[in-house]
Amino acid sequence: MLDLFDPQERVVIGEQAVLMRGRALAVDTALLAAIDAIAGRASFRRMVTPGGYEMSVAMTNCGRVGWVTDRTGYRYAPHDPATGRPWPPLPDVFATLAHDAATEAGFADFFPDACLVNCYEPGARLSLHQDKDEQDYRHPVVSVSLGLPATFQFGGLKRGDRPLKVPLTHGDVVVWGGASRLVFHGVLALKDGDHPLTARRRFNLTFRKAL
Ligand code: SIN
Ligand code: FE2
Repeated sequence: MLDLFDPQERVVIGEQAVLMRGRALAVDTALLAAIDAIAGRASFRRMVTPGGYEMSVAMTNCGRVGWVTDRTGYRYAPHDPATGRPWPPLPDVFATLAHDAATEAGFADFFPDACLVNCYEPGARLSLHQDKDEQDYRHPVVSVSLGLPATFQFGGLKRGDRPLKVPLTHGDVVVWGGASRLVFHGVLALKDGDHPLTARRRFNLTFRKAL
């Protein structure tokens, strides 16, 4: 039968950047259960930028190192600064999804050691930035969206490059690397809504090889 809706649609959004629609749907409930378990050990918190602003997105981490920001700067840290304990380990369902999606996007041998877990409530946003606190830019970034839809901005290598507006919905995976690794990107203010699995929230998992 002709199926006009391709649940695994791929959309090229940059030179080496691809959106894989619905790529995480098959494991969505496992991902959300794992996020709950992570948050039980390392709570979501709104971190402070070096400039002194509290971020609107609440964050936690899992993996060998986690991305943190405070008045002294951005960095990867092996311990949760809120508790002094190591971040929870990367769940297998996270590692497998990130590795397989990267491979399908043309980046073989991606074994992330860091996963930033973002929690957006209505109004939360992330201004345009580059992911550049990692040691080796040959590794891609893999980003997984869960819950409420959001508008992802995906620009160019210069802050002033006009970004594409890419709608991201539950289960979408974006992979960027190579020539697109340092592209400026961000997320517009989350619109309120009610998602069957996450209610009034959007979660995002950002996988990177930091060390
Ligand atoms: C990020 O750039 O860290 C997050 C992107 C997203 O939430 O989709
Ligand atoms: Fe980012």
